[in-house]
Amino acid sequence: MSKVLSAEALDQIFREARTYSAWLDKPVTDDTLLQLYDVMKWGPTSANSCPARFVFLRSRQSKERLRPALAPGNVEKTMTAPVTVIVAYDLLFYEKLPRLFPHRPAMRGLFAGNPQLVEVTAMRNSSLQGAYLMLAARATGLDCGPMSGFDNAKVDEEFFGAGKECDGCEQEFFPAGHVKSNFLCNLGYGDRSKLFTRAPRLAFNEACTVL
Ligand SMILES: Cc1cc2nc3c(=O)[nH]c(=O)nc-3n(C[C@H](O)[C@H](O)[C@H](O)COP(=O)(O)O)c2cc1C
Repeated sequence: MSKVLSAEALDQIFREARTYSAWLDKPVTDDTLLQLYDVMKWGPTSANSCPARFVFLRSRQSKERLRPALAPGNVEKTMTAPVTVIVAYDLLFYEKLPRLFPHRPAMRGLFAGNPQLVEVTAMRNSSLQGAYLMLAARATGLDCGPMSGFDNAKVDEEFFGAGKECDGCEQEFFPAGHVKSNFLCNLGYGDRSKLFTRAPRLAFNEACTVL
């Protein structure tokens, strides 16, 4: 049985953790990103499908490639963030199932040829994995700023070759590239002095029912 984390740990991951738009001038190293991935990768996904793919944008050039896709309100916070990660999903995730889910070899065949199931599975599980990424970031001392205010099609074209020939795609139903963006998340060390008052959350009896 798992033990309950300390109040300090729960504060750090949830109660005191905020969505940041301003960042301290402190870089995020490769080691930190590796450590982050090595923690978040253990979060569960259906059939252990692990459909999320992560593109960490840290260089000035890579951020400039992202800039035209950003909603105006997200430009400044993204360009000043030490890292911006594109949380994406691979529509060919099922090709890795024989390795990732070896005890059920038939699982690959369930997805191959069923694009609706592939899309909903990839979207659901990459969203979960994006959430694991944020919680792992907070647990390992980083801060986050998630964003969906951007043009997915532009990001897919710029970073994932959407609209171009799809090498490696055997299926006709994913003609434009098999990796698609889900959401973006800025990562770094947040500047608490720039936060505004936190908005409330729904109370238990507004959001939950126990049957
Ligand atoms: C999937 C997702 C998309 C979001 N998109 C944006 C966005 O485009 N721009 C923005 O400024 N904030 C965005 N946010 C931030 C939310 O508004 C913020 O997380 C929420 O208000 C809670 O703030 P708090 O963590 O400081 O309590 C997004 C958050 C999530 C999880």
